Amino acid sequence: MIPLAERYRGRLPLTETTPIVTLGEGSTPLVAAARLGESSGCELWLKLESLNPTGSFKDRGMTVALSKALEEGAEAVVCASTGNTAASAAAYAARAGLPCLILQPAGAVALGKVAQARALGARILAVRGSFDDALGAARQLAARGTHVLVNSLNPYRLEGQKTAAFELLEELGGPPGVLALPYGGGGNTCAYARGFREAGEGVPRIVAGEAAQRAETLATAIRIPEPFHRAEAEAAVAESGGAVVPLGDREILAAWRELARREGVFCEPASAAGLAAVLREPPAGERVVCVVTGHGLKDPEAVERHAEAPVEIDADPDAIAEAA
Ligand code: F0G
Repeated sequence: MIPLAERYRGRLPLTETTPIVTLGEGSTPLVAAARLGESSGCELWLKLESLNPTGSFKDRGMTVALSKALEEGAEAVVCASTGNTAASAAAYAARAGLPCLILQPAGAVALGKVAQARALGARILAVRGSFDDALGAARQLAARGTHVLVNSLNPYRLEGQKTAAFELLEELGGPPGVLALPYGGGGNTCAYARGFREAGEGVPRIVAGEAAQRAETLATAIRIPEPFHRAEAEAAVAESGGAVVPLGDREILAAWRELARREGVFCEPASAAGLAAVLREPPAGERVVCVVTGHGLKDPEAVERHAEAPVEIDADPDAIAEAA
């Protein structure tokens, strides 16, 4: 597989001499969701960003951010994160040979993501406060010059993430009618809008699913009280003719279950927010792409709470036949 930094080098801020830090990100599968598409009356596709190397779309931005950090002589990187940025930063920093500091909202990060960052050797500090508090602290630390910030405020992150739009255009032969995705801080929404604009083939209607209770949602990946990119993201959504859709946790969980049980796609709850937003009012007959942003294994506690538990049994065919 060709890493996205090579596949799209000419459309990224990379030069011949930029050292590319890669784990083989991008070129993710676009799969048809035939069963959900049929019941909702539209042509539904799933872009499986959950199959990037660390299990989320963040890798698209992190390959560019860490490549540039290395090129520009960084000595360490820092990010605030609800978990996926952290796992991705930790992996790409390890590959770049740079120390990685993670500031995470205390007690609010899914187990799989913390496990990734720990195993990858990052220094993890659990900040008492929200994601926004952790981001404020990360920015202040970066301003001191010791660490390069690799949150989506780092301009190279969104440059990398815009390549997902290029892939969709190649795969579908043009823009879909609707692009649906989760809306946390809004960086990814901005990145898709930028990618489609730059490609010049038209921008789909962007439907951005956010948690109605931003500060408390069970979808911890998007538990972001005040989105940093709100102004730009919501302007891009409005300009596209799309909508921001506030979702209850029940709706997010229902879409999460549908993806798993009807399409065989196991994602983390936040990643189902795009589908949940589309299912509100499915656009009849239209081609819709839902971006599945993060893998289900990231959040085993969601499964523990919201899916059926295994039943222990003797290795006895009669008992098994009865229990099956
Ligand atoms: N989906 C997943 C799985 C995420 O981890 C995030 C953001 C989003 C969607 C929302 O994307 O912020 O660009 O609107 N996760 C960040 C993190 C906040 O720290 O990993 P966005």
